[in-house]
Amino acid sequence: MIKIAVLVSGGGTNLQALIDAQNAGAFPNGEIALVLASNQKAYALERAKNAGIESAVISRKSFDDPAEYDRAIVKALQSRQIDLVVLAGFLSILGKPVIDAYPDRIINIHPSLIPSFCGAGFYGLRVHQAALDYGVKVTGATVHLVNEIPDGGRILLQKAVEIQPEDTPEILQRRVMEEAEWKILPQAVAMLCRQLDQKENKG
Ligand code: GRF
Repeated sequence: MIKIAVLVSGGGTNLQALIDAQNAGAFPNGEIALVLASNQKAYALERAKNAGIESAVISRKSFDDPAEYDRAIVKALQSRQIDLVVLAGFLSILGKPVIDAYPDRIINIHPSLIPSFCGAGFYGLRVHQAALDYGVKVTGATVHLVNEIPDGGRILLQKAVEIQPEDTPEILQRRVMEEAEWKILPQAVAMLCRQLDQKENKG
């Protein structure tokens, strides 16, 4: 069984999509074992509590040294034998200690079709504002592996979403979540759990 940690900073609708998928039996080879928040006020923590999932908060602000923060995250993950790390609206950028501890085992959901509108500074509504400003007619979401380049790891899944003439960043953000993020993130988690479980059973 693959133990999954979901890292969050905000509302946690992607976390909710994962919880709902788990309850519907979508992860026969995995279970969400930990929700780790970068911020005590994240509503995602309520969602974890309602689902009976263990949660913890590690706030970047409590660490002067970013490497210390990374080490605290690794410790929280390793002490619970986490196998797969899912960034679902996690706003801190993870450093080398975390990436090295979980090679090809950290995934992120980004609300655009990478390589468009991604990288440093592209988060939240800014991503959708940039897509509208550019005038693209199609956007979407991407699940990718995490490496040291922001939004730069190997792409696992993408789904396109059409832009409508009257879209605002808020309306577009919601449509991208509903039509793409909440679908491909659980799909990617199911796929990786299956692959990692097979690997473990062979090894
Ligand atoms: C999502 O749009 C996700 O793609 C981005 O941050 C947002 C998080 O939303 N990385 P939520 O906390 O899952 O509701």
